[in-house]
Amino acid sequence: MRIITTVAEMQTLVRDLRAAGSTIGCVPTMGALHDGHASLIKSAAEQHGTVITSIFVNPTQFAPTEDLSKYPRNLERDTLIVAQAGGTVIFAPTVDEMYPSGFSTSIHVGGITEVFEGARRPGHFDGVATIVAKLLIAMSPDEAYFGQKDYQQTLVVRTLVRDLGLPCTITVRDTVREADGLAMSSRNVYLNEEERAQASSLYRALILARTMIENGERRATEIEHAMSATLLQIPGLTIDYASVVMADTLATCDVLPEKTNVVLLLAVRIGTTRLIDNMRCTVGG
Ligand code: PAJ
Repeated sequence: MRIITTVAEMQTLVRDLRAAGSTIGCVPTMGALHDGHASLIKSAAEQHGTVITSIFVNPTQFAPTEDLSKYPRNLERDTLIVAQAGGTVIFAPTVDEMYPSGFSTSIHVGGITEVFEGARRPGHFDGVATIVAKLLIAMSPDEAYFGQKDYQQTLVVRTLVRDLGLPCTITVRDTVREADGLAMSSRNVYLNEEERAQASSLYRALILARTMIENGERRATEIEHAMSATLLQIPGLTIDYASVVMADTLATCDVLPEKTNVVLLLAVRIGTTRLIDNMRCTVGG
C-alpha cells in the first residue's frame, strides 16, 4: 500500500500511473472506515487499475459545536480495510497540507445547500465542497465514488463537478446497512447499547414510507406523519426532519407526482448522536 501525504507527490504519482496506462478511481473519506466505505473501494477496484482512498478528517465541514476532536481516527486499521477492499493508494494529508497558513478560499454551492443538512449545519457544505474540489484536483481521478448514505452531499458534489467542469465522473453507490437495517456510519460508535438497538427505527420508518408509496399513498404529509410516528415510539429520540421531497432538487411536493423519483430524508438525534438516513423511491414505478 502506498501512503501519500502531500498534494505534490499525489499529483506526480497520478501522472506516472496514467502515463503507464492505468485509469484512476478515487474514494474520498474521513477514515474510521467500515463496510460502506469498503463497498465503494471494491466498486472502484472493479473498474480501475489504481484506486486512491483519501483519508482526511476535514475540519472545515464541522461546526464548532460538532465532533471534530472526538471523530474516530485509526490509520493503521483503515490501511488494512483499504487493502482488503482492493485499494492501491492512500492519500492521507495533514490539515496544514490541505489548509496551509493563509488559506482563504471557500467554495459555495448554491440552491441545494440551503435546505435539510445545509440549513441545520451552517457552513457544512462549503467545507465539503471546498475539500472535495481540493481532493479531486490532488487525485485527478477518472471516476470518484460516493455513498448514497449522504444523499444531499451527492447532489452537492454532482453540482460542484458540473459547475467547475472538473474532468471526472461521479458514481453513487447504495447505502450499506447492518443486519437490522441501520446505515453503517463512522458515528455509530457513539451509540450505547440501548441507543444502538433504537437506531434501527430509522430504517423501519423508511421501509414503512416506501411501502405506503408502493401502495398508492401520494400525500406527502401522510407519509411524513407515518415516518415521524414510527420514530417517536423511541423514548428520547428527537426529529430534525422526516420528509419526502423530489429526488433531484429536494423540492417539497404536497402530492407526489406519478412517474417521478422522490427521496425520503431523515435526521434524528438519539441521545447526543445525530443520525441521518434516506431512501429513494420511484412513484408509481
Ligand atoms: P465519510 O463520512 O467518511 O464518507 C465517505 C464516503 O463513504 C461518502 O461518500 C459516504 O456517503 C460514504 N458512506 C458512508 N457510509 C456509507 C454506507 N453506509 N454505505 C455506503 N456509503 C457510505 O462523506 C464524507 O466522509 C466527507 O464529507 C467527504 C466526502 C470525505 C469530504 O470530507
